[in-house]
Amino acid sequence: MAIEDKIKLLLDKREEAKLGGGQKRIDSQHKKGKLTARERIDLLLDEGSFEEFDMFVSHRCHDFGLENEKYLTDGVITGYGTIDGRLVYVFSQDFTVFGGSLSEMFAKKICKVMDQAMKVGAPLIGINDSGGARIQEGVQSLAGYAEIFERNILASGVIPQISAIFGPCAGGAVYSPALTDFIIMSKQNSYMFVTGPKVVKTVTGEVVTDAELGGAMVHGSKSGVSHFVAEDEQEGIQLIRKMLSYMPQNNLEDPPLMPCDDPIDRLDDSLNYIIPDNPNKPYDIKDVIHAIVDNTEFLEVARHFAPNIITGFARLNGMSVGIVANQPNYLAGVLDINASRKAARFVRFCDAFNIPILTLVDVPGFLPGTAQEYGGIIIHGAKLLYAYGEATVPKVTVILRKAYGGAYDVMSSKHLRGDINYAWPTAEIAVMGPKGAIEVLYNKKLAEIEDAEERENFLRKNEDEYKAKFANPYDAASYGFIDDVIEPRNTRFRIIRAFQALATKKDTNPPKKHSNLPL
Ligand code: HXC
Repeated sequence: MAIEDKIKLLLDKREEAKLGGGQKRIDSQHKKGKLTARERIDLLLDEGSFEEFDMFVSHRCHDFGLENEKYLTDGVITGYGTIDGRLVYVFSQDFTVFGGSLSEMFAKKICKVMDQAMKVGAPLIGINDSGGARIQEGVQSLAGYAEIFERNILASGVIPQISAIFGPCAGGAVYSPALTDFIIMSKQNSYMFVTGPKVVKTVTGEVVTDAELGGAMVHGSKSGVSHFVAEDEQEGIQLIRKMLSYMPQNNLEDPPLMPCDDPIDRLDDSLNYIIPDNPNKPYDIKDVIHAIVDNTEFLEVARHFAPNIITGFARLNGMSVGIVANQPNYLAGVLDINASRKAARFVRFCDAFNIPILTLVDVPGFLPGTAQEYGGIIIHGAKLLYAYGEATVPKVTVILRKAYGGAYDVMSSKHLRGDINYAWPTAEIAVMGPKGAIEVLYNKKLAEIEDAEERENFLRKNEDEYKAKFANPYDAASYGFIDDVIEPRNTRFRIIRAFQALATKKDTNPPKKHSNLPL
């Protein structure tokens, strides 16, 4: 064969591979409002940067007539490319080939990019759109999943792993995304569940739709499985690009430093007045975050789940930081099971990838009640405590208002190796709020006072005394638990200086096989 013919053969094969399961199925994908696996990669990566692996792979199955039905790529597009000039590895499941179902060779292709991403230390992005295990391949397909799971586990904390769900994701297939750092779901056409509506109906009699059982909003707000809910695939892909800009390539590198045109000593007078006079009145902690960070830019993580705690990425003088903040605007910013789980996972991600943590505290304590106790608030609250105590990245904390009880300890206190702990003059650091404290301390005495007015006066007098002692930051500061009391409007400058000082921080944990965090 002449070289021209050989090259033509190559080009023809490439064209064939690019068509996946064929034009009809591509059209059907578009009709559903979905992009194809290749279109997704094109949108995700810098133009012209994609280098594809294994275009000529097809399956090795000889059952159920599959020996006569083969497609190049076998249903998943894999390779590497760049995002903002930085290397990433990617796989994108192609629903036009056997519904994106996972075969032995399909899994091998994914494992190949995972292995290489680990060797070179670059993030891995997986785009999921699949009917699950390829039924015709039986245990080969199940084995393939487990090979991927094992690699997800070994890569955890070494390279950032991000999963996008842009179609079905069911059965055991959900566990690969669940093992990754962040899950993004598109509001259109995407769902995740361990068993689908049909099985649910058979087993429990419950009638639900795909979206009700495992749609983007369900996992974004109820289960907390998904960290980002995107309006559509395009927005989801842009979110991945943005998210990566805050992350290092791997756990041995620092996050990228961006140029910053927002003055570090910018004062924000509104912060001096943001805390209401009435301690029970809420305000929006996001106003504080936006006022402090570079150019008001904040990428919120898990926005719809446990909104009583806010988590997300921002920059301070161009340096990437993870922010954890109680939200007085929702349930008074109380710590409950979901808030603890959400923040703990975020703190551990930041710590694994050398992203310093800023904690903004205004917390009345842990949420009381049987629902929380039966649900295991003790163990879930301990997760957050554990995550902060274990984290060795620079940790800067600002107490804005309430820091009551165990929640004071948990929220990156000095005692959990908080590096620089500030308080605003409006801070109140105590075992509990004044009313509750006086009722506990003077329980018997209060019972003896029969006259209502006398009782009220007694309560007020003692509450005032309690407030004078604890409703300020100075008692804590007198023990050195607060490094300084800062003027709210100058918060940006003070925390940037704190993080600058901590930039070369080194701290370690004792050698061990692994920790046994309260799961
Ligand atoms: C082989 C599959 C397939 C699968 C879909 N297809 N799922 N082929 N194995 N698992 C094929 C279809 O035969 C069809 O082929 C094409 O993909 C598109 O599927 P449709 O059903 O036409 O598409 P749609 O109506 O959009 O429905 C999509 C779907 C449905 C909801 C995903 O196909 C479905 O329910 N599939 C089965 C899902 C499932 O039960 N998977 C196993 C889960 S258990 P043609 O030739 O017509 O284009 C599992 C275990 C994993 O995954 C364990 C890991 C530990």
